[in-house]
Amino acid sequence: MAENKRENFGGRFAIIMAMAGSAIGLGNIWRFPYLAGEHGGAAFILVYILSSVFLSLPIFLSESIIGRRSKSNTYGAMKKLAPGTRWKWLSIITILAPLIIVSYYSVVGGWSIEYLVKSLTFGFNSVPKEEITSLFSEFISRPYAPILFHTIFLGTTAIILTAGVKSGIEKFSNWSVPVLFLLILAILLYSLTLPGAMGGVIYMAKPDFSKITSKVILAAMGQSFYSLSLGVGTILVYSSYVSKKENLLVSGLGTAAFDLMFALMAGFAVMTAVFSAGVTPGAGPGLIFESLPYVFATMGESAPVLSGIIATVFFVTILISALTSAVSLMEVGVAYLIEEMKMKRKWATFTTFIGTWTLGCFCSLSFGPLGGIQFFGKTIFGFCDWISSNFLMALGALLFSLFVGWKMKKSDVYDEFTNGGTLKVNVRCFKPVYFLIRYIAPIVILIIFLSGILL
Ligand code: PFF
Repeated sequence: MAENKRENFGGRFAIIMAMAGSAIGLGNIWRFPYLAGEHGGAAFILVYILSSVFLSLPIFLSESIIGRRSKSNTYGAMKKLAPGTRWKWLSIITILAPLIIVSYYSVVGGWSIEYLVKSLTFGFNSVPKEEITSLFSEFISRPYAPILFHTIFLGTTAIILTAGVKSGIEKFSNWSVPVLFLLILAILLYSLTLPGAMGGVIYMAKPDFSKITSKVILAAMGQSFYSLSLGVGTILVYSSYVSKKENLLVSGLGTAAFDLMFALMAGFAVMTAVFSAGVTPGAGPGLIFESLPYVFATMGESAPVLSGIIATVFFVTILISALTSAVSLMEVGVAYLIEEMKMKRKWATFTTFIGTWTLGCFCSLSFGPLGGIQFFGKTIFGFCDWISSNFLMALGALLFSLFVGWKMKKSDVYDEFTNGGTLKVNVRCFKPVYFLIRYIAPIVILIIFLSGILL
């Protein structure tokens, strides 16, 4: 497809906001704080930063290079850059993976709408604190309500996408990502004033290098990977909307910096609140939908209105951050259908919506009526999460780094990374970056991959 027929993001700000929007999501709020606290605080954060620079950034750049070089969706990119080879079939992984992720991600997005409604109506104040946990398990096991909210979440994602790259994705992330930062800053400032907040600060930040084991290093790498939305083609597709004038290194560094900043702010905000209410911190949905509502109910005993407001701000933050990620995930399928199946954007979005909505319904029902259906000992939801996060993401990332490191011509990679040799800093960074993409990334991903399926 000729370049002038495809849309481009409006400039550096728009690119970084869209990519940061993809990166910032549930992973920053429900996994990062817990992993950091459990695995050595500041020491874990240091390992996390190192893995972001030496592993995630090279993969991010690999996806960016393929995307902008080809100006295509994931399948079209391989067809264009490696014509007549089997690479295009391998790229199917990177179409399947984001669609599987968005199916279960939007179920969680739906839960956050339900909890937002509860916060807006000061619902946590009227529930006895002891019942908050059972409230969550009771809600997700219901057959209809969670599916209704999943439909609203995924439908909103689809509506944003039908508007296109500039009027949909760009417009939405240009305002929503700055708003996310303001919201999380407000929550952070408030939670730091809570009694006992220091406990959370110490939990998150106290450096404990003795906790850094090989397992923890793998966890840090996996988290930095998931957090930066790597290996599933979202960064590739977004980069295909980046103009040839832009600097790929700057958008990669900018995205990683915003993502880290958000994770740290969310981490301190969530953990100070959790410690102040005397709740045991944990990872996953339980942290957001059980521990924090318990915190809000505790606050509500002395300040019901304030607690309702804070809970509302918190669930709006979760909802928007999940939406910006879902938009990027769904766009991978939409771009494929538009460019390879020659569908109109509206129909491509509708088709993707129907497929992911259906799988999402099964995921949602697996907490209730379909709980008995298991694959490898996991429910449908658990299996979709496991296969995409532990298996397909790593496989996709391996594919991208091998493609740039071994299949593409070095001169083409250089040309794309340095904008034809015109970006001085990029010219100087090329050698180490190429080395990381060609040798280090594939070896380390293979280790993460094997540990993900074997451990
Ligand atoms: N990065 C998102 C998060 O941290 O929640 C999750 C995600 C979004 C993963 C988009 C992969 C992706 F393509």
